Amino acid sequence: MDGSAGAEHYRAPLLLHSLAEFREIIYGCLDAAGVRSIAEVGAEDGHFTSELLQWSAGRDVRVVAVDPEPSAALLRLAVDEPRLELVAKTSLDALPELDALDAYVIDGDHNHYTVLHELRAIASNARNQFPIVLLHDVAWPWARRDLYYAPDVIPDDARQPYTFDAGVVPGDPSVVAAGFRGEGEFAVALTEGGANNGVRTAVEDFMAERPGLVFRIVPAVFGLGVLFDERAPYAGAVDAVVAVYDGNPLIERLERNRLDLYMAVLGGADGRSGPVGELRSALEQAQLHIRDLESENKALWAERAEHEERAEAGRRLAAEVRALIAAKPFRVAETVARLRSSSGVSRAHVEAVLRELGL
Ligand SMILES: C[S@@+](CC[C@H](N)C(=O)[O-])C[C@H]1O[C@@H](n2cnc3c(N)ncnc32)[C@H](O)[C@@H]1O
Repeated sequence: MDGSAGAEHYRAPLLLHSLAEFREIIYGCLDAAGVRSIAEVGAEDGHFTSELLQWSAGRDVRVVAVDPEPSAALLRLAVDEPRLELVAKTSLDALPELDALDAYVIDGDHNHYTVLHELRAIASNARNQFPIVLLHDVAWPWARRDLYYAPDVIPDDARQPYTFDAGVVPGDPSVVAAGFRGEGEFAVALTEGGANNGVRTAVEDFMAERPGLVFRIVPAVFGLGVLFDERAPYAGAVDAVVAVYDGNPLIERLERNRLDLYMAVLGGADGRSGPVGELRSALEQAQLHIRDLESENKALWAERAEHEERAEAGRRLAAEVRALIAAKPFRVAETVARLRSSSGVSRAHVEAVLRELGL
């Protein structure tokens, strides 16, 4: 690995997740299909949008990004790159308003209802043949389980029961306390599998409505799906780019391993095992210890205040006694004389006692 490859490695996020990771395969498909216009649905921070802009630089290609909540980075990209058309709407509002485009990248709200309706909107816009559509998240975790950025916009009868407060782990169709989770950003369906659940299920349901489509899957980085018309003039060329990855067992194993490792980093289903789980437990122990020390400290401060109060009272009493004695010196002399005669105490002893009292 040379120095620049090392630097690239350090800039990569711990969990690769962007469509940008598929850049070579996607460019290959777009080139093979001779694409002149493309829309990315769900652009987030514009990582893949930048890739699209780079790919299209110097070519006469229309690039559209659709996202209902464009991030600051995406807005900046749209300002810096006037070639980018940014549509700040949901896909289901934006797609019917766009003319037919040659290609679409679907990476927005990863649920059955949204993806099925996105594909239907693309189909009804299409001129004579269905365009090439690239879909992210056709593998675990959203292949067979809905994710909702905004559950309220999905009709009640098309939405799975969901939660914002749990996560998912591979191999468990229910939800778990920790695992892969949205941290409030998105909700997950309570159960994986079954009808009308997940992105891949939506593609399959759409294909059942519209025969004559080819669907290839690159089983890495949450899965890239490539959907195209088998009668398209470029069908063979696109298939030559992607068929080699489709169902490739080595890539599937690597993806599974990547997810298992990431789950271990997250601390497993309950967030307690693995490096992060252990750190979390150690942190909780340290917090408990700090709480104990704080209450001990509080008790010590209260004890100290009590001692200071008593010392102050002693000082006040001594001062009063001194004042009293100073006001009546003859009584001291009288008392000393009396003491000496009645007890036989020596004069030197009485003087020592008086010195000690500071008299
Ligand atoms: C996974 S991110 C996209 C990542 C990006 N394509 C990439 O590869 O770097 C999903 C994005 O979809 C957007 N989104 C959510 N609901 C949407 C909807 N109904 N239509 C379009 N985009 C949506 C979110 O705001 C978020 O930015």
